[in-house]
Amino acid sequence: MSASTPVPEGPPGPERSSTAQPAASFRKRVHDILEQGGTWPFGNAVNYGLIALILLNAVAFALETVPQLEAEYGRAFAAFDAFSVLVFSLEYVLRLWSCVDNPVLATDSDSRTRFRFALRPLMLVDLGAILPFYLSYFVALDLRVLRVLRLFRFLKLARYSPAIQALGRVLTNERRSLLGALLLMMALLLFSSTGMYFLEREAQPDKFGSIPEAAWWAMATLTTIGYGDVVPVTWLGKLFGGVVMILGLGMFALPIAIIATGFSEEAHRRDFVVTLGMVARVPLFASLPAPLVGEIMSCLSARTYAEGAHIVREGEVADCMYFITSGSVTVHADSGLVQLDDGEFFGEMALIYNQPRSHAVAAATKCRLLVLDKADFERLCHNEPMLRDRIGQIASERARASKKAPAKS
Ligand code: CMP
Repeated sequence: MSASTPVPEGPPGPERSSTAQPAASFRKRVHDILEQGGTWPFGNAVNYGLIALILLNAVAFALETVPQLEAEYGRAFAAFDAFSVLVFSLEYVLRLWSCVDNPVLATDSDSRTRFRFALRPLMLVDLGAILPFYLSYFVALDLRVLRVLRLFRFLKLARYSPAIQALGRVLTNERRSLLGALLLMMALLLFSSTGMYFLEREAQPDKFGSIPEAAWWAMATLTTIGYGDVVPVTWLGKLFGGVVMILGLGMFALPIAIIATGFSEEAHRRDFVVTLGMVARVPLFASLPAPLVGEIMSCLSARTYAEGAHIVREGEVADCMYFITSGSVTVHADSGLVQLDDGEFFGEMALIYNQPRSHAVAAATKCRLLVLDKADFERLCHNEPMLRDRIGQIASERARASKKAPAKS
């Protein structure tokens, strides 16, 4: 039985008149659609529409460079460009207007909140996607520069791709290690080109006559590209070249390893935040000390069940218990059907009394559950009598209710 959610108080500001209420609720709708599109059926359509427009812009960007197409459909391309800028401008303005309805952001006056929001990286990308179009009316911009700036529109996709955002976070978090790897690469490049310059300059003065010239060979070799347009001919040069090739392999493994490790840490962090968010919805955990909640969290795994799915069958051997974090389940108890909602748990009786499942449990709606394995449950209960007592109390109430309550039709 979920408690009603308290409505967060708005930021301090002028009193809102009753006529301002519909406008405020419309703004909240706009905010929900644009920022949490997936939760709204209409929001999905808006966001998929925007994604399609961004992709079409990328296609148009490439096709416009084909001279025949540009000559034949130039006006259509220009019209599509103007239409895209119009839609993206509307999107930008609406995001800025409605951002004050984000309770996390709105801790200040509306104008300051909007100003801070406008400086967010994704909003800057949005601005970069439309600004060149308007600027071109005031400043004489080179057409080629304008075209290149249009690539900004493709970056708008980052808003819709958790993977691109994760990559951005990994690059930011690992910037020191990556900078270290870059310095190492530069040092190796300098070392290889200097070495080859001294070894080959007499045999091939046209190709290795200076360190910058030798750097072209070093770059192609270290990156394992190996064009083969410049090669060492002396035996000492070949020997040195072999060493540089082996070093080149190691050099590229380093940043790749840094990014791969960063991705794996990012995934762990995300799992932790998701589990934390789910755990916060279970009142039993809210009443436990933080270190114990942390220990329980490390043992939980998330599962989703579709509406009507059987979660537990009567009489089966139990190997876990469940906490409901969203949706509801139906227990086919002796007393009739009992509904359990988000925040409640089930499957504890078989573990506590060491018996088969007392009743069947099915998903009444689509639900997300946290699963605690039997072994972890027993270990946690053994170490933390508080947890055992809380769960045990509910289990004995349910056992009593199952025996005493009159059967419902
Ligand atoms: P378990 O016996 O492991 O599997 C079925 C679960 O249904 C049981 O644990 C309880 O968690 C739950 N259950 C059984 N009876 C009731 C009841 N009367 N009210 C709510 N939940 C119940």
